[in-house]
Amino acid sequence: MSEDVKKAIFPAAGLGTRFLPATKASPKEMLPIVDKPMIQYGVEEALACDIQEFIIITGKHKRSIEDHFDYAFELEEKLKKSGKDKLLEEINRLNQIKLGYIRQGYALGLGHAILCAKPFVKDEPFAVILSDDIIPPGETLLLDMIKLYRKLKSPVLALEKVPLQEVKRYGVISGTKEWDSVFRINSLVEKPDPAQAPSSMAIIGRYILTPDIFDILAKAKPGKGGEVQLTDAINILLQKRPIYGYLFSGKRYDAGDKLGYLKATVDFALNNPDLSKAFKKYLFDVTRNMKRAK
Ligand code: UTP
Repeated sequence: MSEDVKKAIFPAAGLGTRFLPATKASPKEMLPIVDKPMIQYGVEEALACDIQEFIIITGKHKRSIEDHFDYAFELEEKLKKSGKDKLLEEINRLNQIKLGYIRQGYALGLGHAILCAKPFVKDEPFAVILSDDIIPPGETLLLDMIKLYRKLKSPVLALEKVPLQEVKRYGVISGTKEWDSVFRINSLVEKPDPAQAPSSMAIIGRYILTPDIFDILAKAKPGKGGEVQLTDAINILLQKRPIYGYLFSGKRYDAGDKLGYLKATVDFALNNPDLSKAFKKYLFDVTRNMKRAK
């Protein structure tokens, strides 16, 4: 049993209704940001933190996630024959990752998705990564949270200050500042009305949790939206142990939302050495034409 965070759960069984019809038969997590599916960014982020075991919670229409991280014999042979070694290496790297899958039969909410991972997590602390929250490579959010866990031996939630009118899309905390970016959480509210929000510090899609959350999730009743809410379970856990928030001030894209997805795509394309120059020129032309049309 590891005392450190060596396992990560990727809940990916949601219905992705904000992206319909694209997500009717294919997973939101496989939508690409330039040339990589969203979930691959999350997996690579965890690998960079020395997380070694991954479990993806899947559901209906999610087979392509498994295929993405599996051998593609025909494709690999073709890349080999055509001498595309760099691409082959990149594709092959995906097969080496130790990934497991658990199916969530019904999309009963994020809390329920995490509960499905109990047999895999057993008695260890674990990370939860919501892969539609894209954190660009180079940011150290997850690593900073793991370091904080090592120090505090308590759950750590990633927080971000969001505009007050947006709090209704998030779980929001009330907390007391401990030091720098670290807050001790007093309570959480799921998707509050801006007028009633305890703060504008929203929980974003990175969590370090401890296995005592499972017993609470197992007894949880559906909350807001008829789903088993993770925030409700964390609220109960708060009665038993301290829970901390880590206020992130780096870049994050809410790519589960169309506008956030487009922002991520534009920024990642601008940072892509093969695309950057031509894409910048295209954006420049678009902006100029828009100004002319005014
Ligand atoms: P979201 O709140 O983004 O829901 O879930 P969603 O279904 O993916 O998308 P919308 O809101 O309908 O557009 C947050 C994360 O929790 C997972 C999702 O796959 C996503 O990664 N999730 C949600 C599950 O795994 N199971 C669920 O029952 C619900």
